[in-house]
Order: sequence, then C-alpha cells, then structure tokens
Amino acid sequence: MARLTVPATGATFESSEQISSFLKPFGIWYDHWDCSSVRLSDSATPAEILAAFQSKLDEVKTKGGYVTADVVSVSPATPGIDAMLDKFSREHTHSEDEVRFVVRGRGIFHINPQTAPVFAVEMGPGDLINVPAGTRHWFDLCSEKTICTIRLFQDTTGWTPRYSENAVHESYEPRCFDSVSSDEIQLKSVVTP
Ligand SMILES: [Fe+2]
Repeated sequence: MARLTVPATGATFESSEQISSFLKPFGIWYDHWDCSSVRLSDSATPAEILAAFQSKLDEVKTKGGYVTADVVSVSPATPGIDAMLDKFSREHTHSEDEVRFVVRGRGIFHINPQTAPVFAVEMGPGDLINVPAGTRHWFDLCSEKTICTIRLFQDTTGWTPRYSENAVHESYEPRCFDSVSSDEIQLKSVVTP
C-alpha cells in the first residue's frame, strides 16, 4: 500500500481514498489493486507477469490511451543499476504519461507540482500511479534497491527524461518505510511461491 507525505507540512496519507483525493487535483490518478488471488513465482517471465494482470491492464490502457506495456525488474545485481537510478532521481518531465504498477519491491516518486509543495508517494506491491506528461517528478528506489514494475506507454519514443531547470530534488531525501522489517515487506508482496 502506498504512503503519501508532504515534507513541507509533515502531512501523511496512507489510505487509498485519501491518496487518490490528494492526487486528483494534480491530474494524477492512483489505484491499489487487490492482488490476493495472483500467483506468480519469483522466476515468472515478463509475459507471465503481464498475463497475470491482463484484464486490469486492459482497463488502464482503455482509460489512458496506452498501447503497449512491458515489465522492468531491478535489483542490486542489475548491471549499471546506479547509473540507471541516477538517470531518474533528478527532477525531470516526460512528453507522455509515466504509468507504473508495482508487482514487487518498492520505490518513491517525488512530485513537484510547482503550484503546491513537493510531495512524495511511496509505492509498494499492488500500487498503480499515473504521472501525467509534463509533470515535474523524480524517482528513487528504497534501501533494498529492488522493484518489479509494469510500465504502460502511449508512445515509447516519448519516454525520455527532460531535466528541469531550477530542479529541487537535492533538497529532498527519499524516505521509504525503512522502519518496516524485511518480514513485513515480504508479507506485502503479491508474489506467492
Ligand atoms: Fe520519470
């Protein structure tokens, strides 16, 4: 389940309803899918992962006009992981929506709406978010540096970071649920052996 925080005010939101309501004025939609019936092994292929969520993904494609989907898995063993993370941990925009569904692991989006204080959305298994085209944001993994996400695209050629002038990301620490034990994180996983 996601958690939304506003560093400037200390406000924290942890229910799907609160998070959705907070994000709506910014054109961002958030959802949490009940994945209790999903069965995927740790060695599931991208095709198997996409198939497991096919009906939900089809709904999102129709809603947002997304035409393709893929699966990205990152762990500390991923070659070049630090360079990859550095590419997206600086404030940037895209010319199309950034849509992410977390299958396992965690990550944290910071959003800079410019008309309101920066806020952070920590994403966990079952969480879906859409960061609209042109929205200033950046993304970090949590301490375990592990995530598996499904990405949806309107046009993959548009998904290139455009770095912001006067970027503010250096003023914010990516804070995840690092107080949560590894056992609790495991219980949050939708992946059942
Ligand atoms: Fe991005």
